[in-house]
Amino acid sequence: MFKKLQQRWKVSPIRLLLILIAFATGGILTGYAGKKLMNFTGIDNPVFYIPVYIIVITLIWPLMVLLISIPLGQYRFFMAYLNKLYNRITGNHSRIKNTGPDMGEPIAPEGNTSLEKFNALKASKTQIKKIAIFASGAGSNAQKIIDHFRHSANIQVAIIATNKPTAGVTEIAGKENIPTLIIEKETFFRGDAYVPHLKHAGINLIVLAGFLWKIPTPLINAFPRSIINIHPALLPDFGGKGMYGDNVHQAVLQAGKKESGITIHYVDEHYDNGDIIFQAKCAILENDTPGQLAQRIHVLEHANYPLIIEQLLQ
Ligand code: GRF
Repeated sequence: MFKKLQQRWKVSPIRLLLILIAFATGGILTGYAGKKLMNFTGIDNPVFYIPVYIIVITLIWPLMVLLISIPLGQYRFFMAYLNKLYNRITGNHSRIKNTGPDMGEPIAPEGNTSLEKFNALKASKTQIKKIAIFASGAGSNAQKIIDHFRHSANIQVAIIATNKPTAGVTEIAGKENIPTLIIEKETFFRGDAYVPHLKHAGINLIVLAGFLWKIPTPLINAFPRSIINIHPALLPDFGGKGMYGDNVHQAVLQAGKKESGITIHYVDEHYDNGDIIFQAKCAILENDTPGQLAQRIHVLEHANYPLIIEQLLQ
C-alpha cells in the first residue's frame, strides 16, 4: 500500500513518511480543535451536534494539515493535494470543451488551475526557462515551438532529444543550432541515465512532440509535473499503446466520431494517461481520410502547443 501511495504521489519514502505524519497529526489536531469549538457553541443535542461537528471538522481539517505541513517541509505537496481535492469537488478540470468556428484559432482554457499550480511552483522571474523537446518524427511541432521562442528573453529551447538520428527533427536541430541528444534505447530504459545530462543543462520542462517511447518512471520522478505530451485526439479516448500517427485518426474515423482534436497533458508512467492541461476540438468532415484529418489536427497543434508551453513556464 505504501509503495502504491509513493508511486501515485511520486515521492520518496522519506517524503511519504512526512506526508503521512502530517495527515495523522493534522487529523488528531482537527478532532481536538473541533471538540473545543463545539464546546464553545454550547450545542449538546446530538441531532444538531453531529452534523455541526462534521461541518466544523471538514472546514478546519485543511487548515490543520497545511499548518502541520509547514514545519515538516511538505507545504507544497498539501497545497497541490488540497487544490486537486477542491477541483474534484467543484468539477474544475482545465478542459476545453468547444472550439470556435475557426478551428485554426488558439483557444484559451476555460479553467486553468493546473497551469496556475504549475506556474506557482515554477515561478522565478530571474531565471531563463529551458525546454528539452523529445521527438522522433518530422518535427513540425518542434519547429513551431522553436519559432515561437526564437526571440524570447526568458524561454529557450535548449535541447532536442531524439532516438532517431535520421528523423526530420534532427535536421531541424542542426539547422537551428540546437544541441541534439541522441537517446539510446538500452540506456534510456535503464531509467535515469539521461537525468544528469538534462539537469546539468538546466532543463525546466520536457516537451514530448511525437516521441513514441514510454517515459521511464525514474525520469518522470526527476521532473515531477514537468514533462508534457501532445496527443492527436481527445483523450481519454483513442489513447494508449500503439495509438500514434494515422492509427489514431483511423480509429477516430472508424468509430464514426463527429469531432476529434488535440490533448496536451502531463506525462505519467502510462501511455497518454496523465492529467489533462488543455484540449481543443475540430470537426470531422464527410469523407475525411486519416491524412486529411491529420493535417487539420496539426494546424491545431501548431497553434496551441507553443502557447500552452509558454503559459506553463511563465
Ligand atoms: C503529432 O501529431 C503529435 O500529436 C504526436 O506526434 C505527432 C508529431 O508530429 N504526438 P510532428 O513530428 O511534430 O510533425
